[in-house]
Amino acid sequence: KTISIIGVPTDYGQARRGVDMGPSAIRYAGVVERLEAIGHTVQDQGDIRVSQKLVKAAIDKQLLNLEEVIDVSTSLANRVHEVVAEKKFPLVFGGDHSIAIGTFAGLGEHYKNLGVIWFDAHADLNTPDTTPSGNIHGMPLAVSIGIGDERLVQIRKYAPKIKSKNIVIIGARSVDPGERELIHEQGIKVYTMHEIDRLGMTRVMENALAYLKGLAVDGLHLSLDLDGLDPLYTPGVGTPVPGGMTYRESHLAMEMLQESGMLTSAEFVEVNPILDEKNKTADVAVALIGSLFGETLV
Ligand code: ARG
Ligand code: MN
Ligand code: MN
Ligand code: MN
Repeated sequence: KTISIIGVPTDYGQARRGVDMGPSAIRYAGVVERLEAIGHTVQDQGDIRVSQKLVKAAIDKQLLNLEEVIDVSTSLANRVHEVVAEKKFPLVFGGDHSIAIGTFAGLGEHYKNLGVIWFDAHADLNTPDTTPSGNIHGMPLAVSIGIGDERLVQIRKYAPKIKSKNIVIIGARSVDPGERELIHEQGIKVYTMHEIDRLGMTRVMENALAYLKGLAVDGLHLSLDLDGLDPLYTPGVGTPVPGGMTYRESHLAMEMLQESGMLTSAEFVEVNPILDEKNKTADVAVALIGSLFGETLV
């Protein structure tokens, strides 16, 4: 299957500039060459057009840059929708994690029962009522299950985009009180760092994939926030949280996803080259993409 790359140079989902350069940093780290070397056909579609306005400071409880996030999400949703209609594999590069709103909006009409692996330090399940920051990058999972600002929820005029019980969060270690409530209320599956420490990544991924298989999902989306890894490995992120997944654990997770043969779309978000050390975070993203798409040593 042809891999279709879509860049989303946006920083509107949060207040730290520079994450809009994520797609450039990932391309610079050699993602196309890396995928071609494994034998894939890659089409780089370039970037979604994103307006460049000055990001305002969050005014308490209001959603930061709401109009802009609606615009970006709508364009991305339309593009992802087309790519899947053309039977290509969408590989989306952020940008901050608010882009997942658009990605899911583009995927949702193609799948009746999409599975989701959400690899992240955070749950991104806040709503306008629970958000501690006003940052929309802390809300995309809630929006995609139909909870939150109505205009975000209704992108492409249908909702919800995904089912709560089809979500598996991996690597969580910073969850806000309102998010915790939603996790329980909605029956969202979460493997926190505690489970990764106790069971090891092998069993976590085996369990996660078996769970999704048991639900008979008809597609599987990986949404990988680079802050899911420990900031030792990925310092170039806006909201780092210590105690994260290692480089090896993350690679193993990617390899097991590849082996499952279930993956139908993926996105890599929150790479901020301004906060990074010599493009280290984008380099890790590309290395993980290599494993995800079947790179092997021998
Ligand atoms: N939970 C915090 C908030 O709502 C942090 C969210 C961080 N999200 C992310 N995609 N990095 O503001
Ligand atoms: Mn910008
Ligand atoms: Mn995160
Ligand atoms: Mn996130």
